[in-house]
Order: sequence, then C-alpha cells, then structure tokens
Amino acid sequence: MLKDYGRFIREFLLNPSCVGAIAPSSPRLANRMVEWVDWDSVNAVAEYGPGTGVFTTEILQQKRPDSQFFAVELNEDFANTFAERFPDVTLFRDSVGNIEKICQQQNVDQLDAVICGLPWATFSDELQTELLEAMLKVLKPGGYFATFAYLSGMALPAAHRFHRKLDGLFDQVEPSRTVWTNVLPAFVYQCRL
Ligand SMILES: C[S@@+](CC[C@H](N)C(=O)[O-])C[C@H]1O[C@@H](n2cnc3c(N)ncnc32)[C@H](O)[C@@H]1O
Repeated sequence: MLKDYGRFIREFLLNPSCVGAIAPSSPRLANRMVEWVDWDSVNAVAEYGPGTGVFTTEILQQKRPDSQFFAVELNEDFANTFAERFPDVTLFRDSVGNIEKICQQQNVDQLDAVICGLPWATFSDELQTELLEAMLKVLKPGGYFATFAYLSGMALPAAHRFHRKLDGLFDQVEPSRTVWTNVLPAFVYQCRL
C-alpha cells in the first residue's frame, strides 16, 4: 500500500535506529523469510517488529491454523496500523526484550519459530546482545529464527558484529540468496538453534 511508504518515511525520520527502514519489505522478501520453515512442526510462532505487517500476511498463510501466533511491535503508529489490519492477531505493543514475560502472558512455554523484522545493524552491541539473549530463553532447541539484512547495510560494523553473534549462538546460520526486488535489496539469515 502506498500509504505505508509515507508511514515508514515519517517513522524513520522520527526514530531512525528503531525503525531502520524507509520502506516496508516486499512480498518476495516476506516469502523468503518463511519458505524454509517446516510449518507443520511449528506449534508457537512470534513475529518481532511487524511494522505494517508484510511478513504477517505470509505467516498467516503458512502456519497451521491451530498454532499459536502473536506479534510484538514497539512503535505506536505501526502498532495501531497493525491492529486495524490484523484484528485477529494478538499484538503486544512492547519491546521484544520482554519476550519471556510476553510468552508467560500467552501461556507459551517455548517458541518454535521467531520471524523477525528488527533492524539489527542500527542497534548497539549491548542492545543486540540483550534482545538475542532474551529470545534464547524462549526459543526451543532446534527452533527457527529468520531475520533479514540489507545488502548495503553490510558495510556497517554493527552488521558484521551481528552476523558473528548469530554464528556463535546458532547451530545453523544460512544467508539466503539476495532478494533484489526490495527497497533496499536484502537477504535472510535462516538460523536454527
Ligand atoms: C525494518 S522495520 C521492519 C518492519 C516490517 N517487518 C517489514 O519488514 O516491513 C523494523 C521494525 O521493528 C520494530 N522494532 C524495533 N525495535 C523493536 C523492539 N525492541 N521491539 C519490538 N519491535 C521493534 C520497529 O518499530 C519496526 O516496525
């Protein structure tokens, strides 16, 4: 939706490091985020930083109808848009740093998958570690973690630092092929714990 582009530019100008993008992801990138997951085995999935919900649409198409699903979004404007667009999806207007508490509220012991839109390359070393450590408390051994990175962002030291952290924490870290039909071209880290 064209309006979403305006929304992203405005929110990016207001809070560049938290939003980390000037446009929503493309449907092609959204598909690459979810296509490698064995959705039959997923009982509980969380979406981190859904923004206007491009990945949400894909998750809803792929997940088993009986699996648990909720999203966590920090930005107020995105959260309001999301709530209007996906009234049936449980949304927490919160930081994913609080994922353990959020899972408790949802009666979820462990997550099988996290589909993540966070802009890791704009985060400090400390914030990257804090959010990853919080997630590892609730992600099941063997669990899926998908997160994307802009190709151009790989020039940033924080992007390399994040990749090294993933290598240290996950058994499998596979960068996908680049999705060129995205503003900006991006790839997905397909990780398994
Ligand atoms: C790069 S945008 C991606 C939005 C959407 N997933 C997409 O790909 O179009 C990053 C999103 O993460 C959200 N975000 C950033 N830090 C967050 C945090 N600590 N907890 C929850 N959401 C966060 C931002 O508000 C924004 O919606």
